[in-house]
Amino acid sequence: MTSRDRFLSALACQPLDRPPLWVMRQAGRYLPEYRALKAQSSFVHMVQTPALAAEVTLQPLRRFPGLDAAILFSDILVIPEALGQPYAFRDTGGIEMAYRLETLSQIESLSDADTAVARLAYVGDTLALLKKNLGDTKALLGFGGSPWTLATYMVEGGSSDDFERIKLLFYTDRVMFDALLEKLTTALIAYFKMQIAAGADAIQIFDSWGGIIAGPDYEAASLQWIRRIVAALPADFPIILYAKGTAPHLTDQAFSGVRAISVDWTNDLAIVRRTLPDNVAVQGNLDPVLMQTTPVIVSREATRLLESMRGTAGHIFNLGHGITPQAKIECMQALVDTVTTWR
Ligand code: CP3
Repeated sequence: MTSRDRFLSALACQPLDRPPLWVMRQAGRYLPEYRALKAQSSFVHMVQTPALAAEVTLQPLRRFPGLDAAILFSDILVIPEALGQPYAFRDTGGIEMAYRLETLSQIESLSDADTAVARLAYVGDTLALLKKNLGDTKALLGFGGSPWTLATYMVEGGSSDDFERIKLLFYTDRVMFDALLEKLTTALIAYFKMQIAAGADAIQIFDSWGGIIAGPDYEAASLQWIRRIVAALPADFPIILYAKGTAPHLTDQAFSGVRAISVDWTNDLAIVRRTLPDNVAVQGNLDPVLMQTTPVIVSREATRLLESMRGTAGHIFNLGHGITPQAKIECMQALVDTVTTWR
């Protein structure tokens, strides 16, 4: 069975001898070969140059051939950029947008979806290069941010500790809030259609900041927009939803039309599996900090998760969030060995 078949079978909740494995941010600073490339060109340049973006995407698969999926090397912030609000990295860490969205007229003067997606043609070119390279051996994942998570960066003007601006906007000016989320939703639908046409096997939506919303507002602030995106894409196309810190909303997420829920490390995945409908897959969910420990500890904890899921269908093995720059190569190797040899 190829990795791609294993991945698509897990998404379809068919029984398997072991789950497929990939890792969020599997291409990144913990890899020396990534750091070597990045010493020569900026992050944004690598993202925008298909040959480089494809190369970075493939780096982890070369080092760890046991990985079952490749995830496009890009960033969720290419959407704000293509709409007219560029991003950069702060020297102190975190994201800095070129400016902050403060008025309705600023939102109205963002580019329309077709213009934005035309600017993102390099993403389609990267996916096509990857598809050509991988064929049907590995699953190929596209991705994007959720409308809410992108709106936090656009309204806060970058990374934020308190998210006060986006929350104040949500509470005090729903017309402006909805105008922005509508704009993002329309752009993301066109963007995901482009990724699907270019060869993506599945798309992951990152609602990384869904967990900072007041519980009763999660639907209005985030989930309704995700549901609209899913409804606008081909009915049989698999979408994975990752929303950090949203445990109380897992069931609502599972009924949003997505094929899989990616679960953060604070949840007990076996309980989540029992709670969610049988036709929705679950993905996750080792604590990423484990990748900074030792191979023995990683192997023990990965086995514990695998055993807790024994006899269930619809599990994609992953970390509960992205792998960190401090992760050790030997821990990643232990993870790949443990999951791919487990029966
Ligand atoms: O998973 C992969 O290998 C694919 C590539 C990928 C990146 N970003 C590359 C990247 C993916 C899927 C993302 C998604 C992303 N980007 C999210 C959602 C997932 C999550 O982590 O919750 C978010 C919130 C972003 C925005 C973003 N981009 C942040 C917060 C940062 C870190 C900034 C910092 O302080 O370092 C980035 C940078 C980024 N995106 C890196 C990578 C490999 C690190 C860049 C580097 O230092 O080389």
